[in-house]
Amino acid sequence: MSRSSKINKDLLQAPKGMRDFHGDIFYKKQGFFEKAQEIAEYYGFSGIELPVLEHEEIFTKGVGDNTDIVEKEIYTLKTKGGSKLALRPEGTAGIMRSYIEHGMGSLPQPIFLYYGGPFFRHERPQKGRYRQFYQFGLEIIGSENAVLDAIIIQTGYQILMETGTEISIKINTLGDSEVRKEYLKKLKLFYKKNKGRISTKDLERLEKNPLRVLDSKEPETIIVNEDAPTIIDTLNPTSKKHFKAVLEYLDAAHIPYEIDHTLVRGLDYYTHTVFEYVTYNSNGEESFALGGGGRYDELANFMGHSKRVPAVGLGLGVDRILEISKEEVFNPKIRKKPKFFFIQLGYEAKAKAFNIIEIMRKKKYPLKHSLSKNNLSKQLGIAETLSIPYALIFGQKEAIDGTVIVRDMKTRKQDTVKIVDLADHLKKLK
Ligand code: HAM
Repeated sequence: MSRSSKINKDLLQAPKGMRDFHGDIFYKKQGFFEKAQEIAEYYGFSGIELPVLEHEEIFTKGVGDNTDIVEKEIYTLKTKGGSKLALRPEGTAGIMRSYIEHGMGSLPQPIFLYYGGPFFRHERPQKGRYRQFYQFGLEIIGSENAVLDAIIIQTGYQILMETGTEISIKINTLGDSEVRKEYLKKLKLFYKKNKGRISTKDLERLEKNPLRVLDSKEPETIIVNEDAPTIIDTLNPTSKKHFKAVLEYLDAAHIPYEIDHTLVRGLDYYTHTVFEYVTYNSNGEESFALGGGGRYDELANFMGHSKRVPAVGLGLGVDRILEISKEEVFNPKIRKKPKFFFIQLGYEAKAKAFNIIEIMRKKKYPLKHSLSKNNLSKQLGIAETLSIPYALIFGQKEAIDGTVIVRDMKTRKQDTVKIVDLADHLKKLK
């Protein structure tokens, strides 16, 4: 058996739920990050980049042992040295780790950070859900002021407005830890009374985390949930005041939102404000969350830090944003429509071609070529297929004379131009 025939076909495919970005989508993704970063910079955020691996405990303690993310979806590994690491399933816990590690608490507060890149969750792949997915995140760390919840929601909203798609914002409050304790008690009692009416899956969830039952997608539980106690009725004055202030700031900024008392989000670190950006399919039904976030005033303490570090942030799902956004909206600055196609003929011309390509690069003229080809009509054919308006033809004679033929692909009009004058000549072309 030959060596190649032994290769398992699956080996030649990306792992399930992971994909390659090539062609237009590569540039669209890059264009999105460029746009999102630009907006974040204007809103006062600075960039940060963290490793994709963190100590596993950052997530078990930070995101929570009983969340779907940690219980089922996290990718963990043990290094040869025996450390237990995890591929980051989200960005917030790592950002808080970095804030503490680098003593950012001693800088003027709060700290505004943005980040982006790949995240990993072992979920069942489907439309808009991948095992390696991309997020763009914003975090404001070091203040509990409600105006910051609003500025996070506003910045995320403005980034999403760039997609050209209709977006709405759902918002809720989970109150502070005192409220949460009280509410969990009420919720457990409610579900105990309705034990016979909720799904078996949710009965198991109830023991570990009743808030997840509230978020259930099981049809029988959804019906029961209609009568579930709401956190709003449990709020203490501090939590009410905070939520009211966030809503007032959003109103003042004319940011549309809908209060949704069933919104709890799937991560344990949230307190007070939680929100999600949602979009609709062609039937007007809510399709999926394009992003979400909230306040996490106790995350630092969950992770073992002695000080309280109030913070608020969001994560946007880049894969989903790319899927729903209009074509051409995210075009990175480095991608330019080529105006010139460089054609060379013969050994001499091929060898000197590098000079011409370099002149074009220095003068910032986007250029395509097919240097490996030798035949004129083939190269002209490629220029036509790519709808490139001008061809630069560089044959044996031109290579010796130090000239280039500039051909208008539409009119077929040709000018012979000295290489030294090329850049000036091209400037005059439309
Ligand atoms: P999250 O809601 O788990 O929040 O994720 C944020 C967004 O990432 C989701 O709304 C969704 O658009 C996208 N997303 C999540 N999982 C997948 C997946 N498997 N495939 C494609 N897209 C996905 C967080 O991660 C928090 N760290 C957000 C945050 C920041 N909260 C405070 N600060």
